[in-house]
Amino acid sequence: MRVSSLTQWGLASLAGLASATPHPKMSKDAKSLLTESMDWMDTYYDPKAGYLYDFSAAVGLTHETRSSAWYAFGLLARNKGKDRLEAEKIIKNIIAGQAKNPADEWYGDYQQEPEEPLVGIPTYNPRIYGSWDPNWRGFVGTTFIMAMEEYSHLISKPTQDLILQSLYNATKGDEYRFGNLDPLKDNLYPAYSNPSIMRAFMSGWTGRRLKEANMTRSGEAYAKEIIDLFDRHNTLSEFNSGTYTGVSLYGLVLWNKYLPKDSIMKQASARMIQDTWESVGLLWHPGMKNMAGPWDRSYGYDMNRYLSLMALWFWSFVGKENSSLIENPSIMSHSADYAWAPLFAILADTHKKLVPKNVLSKLTKFQGEHTFSATCYYPPFDKVPRNITSWLSEKLTIGAESFDELFLGGAGQNQAAFNPAVVQWDTGDEIAFLSLYPTETALQPVVSPNKLTLTYPYGTAGSIFSLVVGTFTAKRVVNSWADVQGLDVKVSGNVDLNYNLTFAGHYGGASKPLRDFEFWNFTYHMPAGFVGTPSITLDLNLR
Ligand SMILES: *[C@@H]1O[C@H](CO)[C@@H](O)[C@H](O)[C@H]1NC(C)=O
Ligand SMILES: *[C@@H]1O[C@H](CO)[C@@H](O)[C@H](O)[C@H]1NC(C)=O
Ligand SMILES: *[C@@H]1O[C@H](CO)[C@@H](O)[C@H](O)[C@H]1NC(C)=O
Ligand SMILES: *[C@@H]1O[C@H](CO)[C@@H](O)[C@H](O)[C@H]1NC(C)=O
Ligand SMILES: *[C@@H]1O[C@H](CO)[C@@H](O)[C@H](O)[C@H]1NC(C)=O
Ligand SMILES: *[C@@H]1O[C@H](CO)[C@@H](O)[C@H](O)[C@H]1NC(C)=O
Repeated sequence: MRVSSLTQWGLASLAGLASATPHPKMSKDAKSLLTESMDWMDTYYDPKAGYLYDFSAAVGLTHETRSSAWYAFGLLARNKGKDRLEAEKIIKNIIAGQAKNPADEWYGDYQQEPEEPLVGIPTYNPRIYGSWDPNWRGFVGTTFIMAMEEYSHLISKPTQDLILQSLYNATKGDEYRFGNLDPLKDNLYPAYSNPSIMRAFMSGWTGRRLKEANMTRSGEAYAKEIIDLFDRHNTLSEFNSGTYTGVSLYGLVLWNKYLPKDSIMKQASARMIQDTWESVGLLWHPGMKNMAGPWDRSYGYDMNRYLSLMALWFWSFVGKENSSLIENPSIMSHSADYAWAPLFAILADTHKKLVPKNVLSKLTKFQGEHTFSATCYYPPFDKVPRNITSWLSEKLTIGAESFDELFLGGAGQNQAAFNPAVVQWDTGDEIAFLSLYPTETALQPVVSPNKLTLTYPYGTAGSIFSLVVGTFTAKRVVNSWADVQGLDVKVSGNVDLNYNLTFAGHYGGASKPLRDFEFWNFTYHMPAGFVGTPSITLDLNLR
């Protein structure tokens, strides 16, 4: 751990002011990730409040805590002019808003906006993932740890002490977390990869730093459960997500960079990062700028149109133009995650060294037609492990996973986020998609070149196959499969071949877009009086 005295602090800040380019050793791509994201966030900063305004433009100028923490970290990394002082102001504000009553389940959590009422008063009921979000302890807490590790020489001693108290409380509060099948209660099982990795880290780091042996032990024990689960199939339980694979990798890099050799997290981190990238290397399609499906939890159907955290890693490794981001990423759907960029930038070079060389070389050039397969397991929601098969070709990918789960919508119990069977193709105008909207708790798919078969083992005469299909710039009239741009779709199976076609649009149609994406809804029902196992086959050929 670093020592900080006032003299050192004074000198460091002078040095910071003097240096024109912060982090001269950073790679060019990591540096542009830091600089561009900070330039964007600067325009959202409200110095009077000491917080960033909420990015969504869907609120009446309220502020937001989590992105403010990330921005504060970015200010420390940049350290120009008053940056350091503004960072401290933000950090102190955030800690003032941290829940302080150990009797509350949300103890040690950070408020989501400074304007919100105190959680738990009669007019503001505690609602998990509503009025409080348990994962924010990890999001904000790990940011504070990075600030302490990288920039404690820029932070005054009283604020450092405050940060450590805050981390102690956040870690204690995280100890209240538990897995539960009830969707209205907490869901932190070790299989919930992204927050569980952050929780173990925060406990292991804070315990060591504060010499709280029990806290350290508890972090290590929790990490053991995560690692054992990973080691079953060398995959994350929460698998293949443009957003959450990015968070899990962030957490695993924290394990690697900031924990000592005696930690099992440090010991396991390199191989977990490598294995995760081996999968990413086979699923990422550099030509189509997408990770082929299936996606356990997704915020969209095309990574070229929503901002994914994986894209920030791609940017820092192979350049922005080789990632799936547009020139101004803040315009993309789900762009609030862009605020995480300063942390990713500072971790990028450590992270890149852990990515297998053969994978790095595959990130910019399509390696040719291939099939990926893997197994993943998310207990207790998965009754048995899920089996994934993805076929990737130059301009068409097909990926699907088998599953048998307790609830609808995958382990996250979210039908709009779970995409168990996905087809993507390049129309020449855009990356188009076809995704099975999950309406069953089990699926047996078969993926092969140009062919996808979907079978519902528990299906009935009431089952439907609801296929969410993207819109086409050059084809505004879609009356049937024949109008689908660039892909010939031939449907067979025991379904009623008379499908229903509707549109889901921002401005009209039968229903609203999913994850900001407008789509055509091709839905197949079973024939009247159907008995048997519902099954549909799609023959898929580019045209
Ligand atoms: C930490 O929690 C204690 C109660 O256990 C509270 O008194 C204290 O103010 C909290 N500290 C911070 C920094 O929020
Ligand atoms: C030690 O850690 C465990 C597990 O997190 C916790 O339940 C227990 O209360 C802690 N004991 C003490 C003395 O802090
Ligand atoms: C993007 O990828 C190409 C190879 O396809 C490479 O030549 C170029 O250097 C990459 N850009 C950056 C910024 O790394
Ligand atoms: C995945 O494959 C394993 C091994 O063959 C099998 O035991 C398991 O049931 C399969 N999962 C599903 C959901 O079919
Ligand atoms: C698609 O339309 C069908 C009706 O034809 C409806 O039951 C289903 O919920 C719709 N699916 C989606 C994802 O909107
Ligand atoms: C599906 O289409 C059929 C005939 O084309 C129609 O009778 C039926 O009401 C439609 N179902 C739904 C759910 O839209």
